[in-house]
Amino acid sequence: MSHAYKAVGWNRQKKVYDLTLIGGVVAYLALFVVLGGVLKPEATIETLLIRALGTGALMLLHIILAIGPLSRLDRRFLPWLYNRRHLGVTMFFLALGHGGFSILQFHAFGDLHPLVSVLVSNGRYGDLAQFPFQALGLVALTILFLMAATSHDFWLANLTPPVWKGLHMMVYVAYGLIVMHVALGVLQTERQPLLAVLMGLGFVILLALHLLAGWRERAKDRPLAAQGRGFVAVCRASEIPEKRAHVVTLSGERVAVFRYDGKISAISNVCQHQNGPLGEGRILDGCVTCPWHGFQYDPATGASPPPFDEKVPTFNVRLDGDQVLVDPQPNPPGTRVEPAVLEQG
Ligand code: HEM
Ligand code: HEM
Ligand code: FES
Repeated sequence: MSHAYKAVGWNRQKKVYDLTLIGGVVAYLALFVVLGGVLKPEATIETLLIRALGTGALMLLHIILAIGPLSRLDRRFLPWLYNRRHLGVTMFFLALGHGGFSILQFHAFGDLHPLVSVLVSNGRYGDLAQFPFQALGLVALTILFLMAATSHDFWLANLTPPVWKGLHMMVYVAYGLIVMHVALGVLQTERQPLLAVLMGLGFVILLALHLLAGWRERAKDRPLAAQGRGFVAVCRASEIPEKRAHVVTLSGERVAVFRYDGKISAISNVCQHQNGPLGEGRILDGCVTCPWHGFQYDPATGASPPPFDEKVPTFNVRLDGDQVLVDPQPNPPGTRVEPAVLEQG
């Protein structure tokens, strides 16, 4: 495997995005602390910072979890998907700051190790109203830490993609723990219920987005009728935007059908790097460019340009007027397939 790729394109956009993200986070924290100080002069700066960091992390987590289904529902959200990793890491650092300051404020000066103190100082695990909600936060933070710490390609290769993906899906477990952490914490500190109401609303929106995206995807995955010699009609060429793809499911496998320079080619939708969705990428410099980290593939051969050696399966394509037909049987990765040529005019 080669790992020398740099994300191609979108670079200026990525910088603007990162600066906007950091600016937004700093502005939020500052606004929270200043407004909090004015509205609640009795609150200490430590308390305000703990709350600003905690709520900031919670909001970012909602955005992170909404991006997947939103970009499946509407392509205009795709740039957010490309940059989700930076959101994830930023969110982790906000949560770490919140947890760290809390531990410093509430657990640093006892006889116990501060982390042990978070788990045992309030032992009322059997009482929901008095439940040690901070322990839930600590478990969630540990999961987020494992995700951020193993996100490098080294771990992807060593843990194998299924284990790594399993670890990443733990983000939903972390989300559940954080929801309980906040709900039980608010219950105990008897603060305004506004936070709990907003969080409930966030939960409902996330659930609705995931269900809607899942339902749309299932509708798209309906098997297509076979037409002559195993070829299947997948879409009209005119429906595919130039240098982009239409994604279909054939024999249980996702296929990305690209249109570029008057030609049509079909390759597997699954990137060799981290299973990114190639059909959501576009053709840059003549190559299909993965939206996640910029690995590239020749649309006619499914092979990465030299010196790289990644290869994805290709599919035979035919045109019947404007109708695109694809053979559901994949060719071995890297097999050249002559692109179907669109009639001019
Ligand atoms: C440097 C750190 C990170 C990297 C490189 C990274 C990269 C990725 C990649 C490649 C995926 C797609 C996995 C797949 O579906 O096969 C993914 C999914 C995801 N990541 Fe991260 N991530 C990082 C940190 C985080 C953190 C800290 C969070 C959360 C707080 C997070 C939240 C998510 C979520 C919610 C998904 C999508 C799950 C879904 O498909 O609905 N990521 N991440
Ligand atoms: C070591 C881990 C953690 C500890 C010790 C901890 C501790 C606390 C404490 C003591 C409070 C009550 C603060 C107050 O009301 O004055 C709190 C609230 C909160 N925590 Fe955590 N927490 C941890 C992890 C997390 C994580 C991972 C998140 C993720 C988003 C989170 C989000 C929140 C939120 C949103 C609140 C409510 C903020 C507010 O009171 O306005 N916490 N936490
Ligand atoms: S480049 Fe990383 S998944 Fe495609």
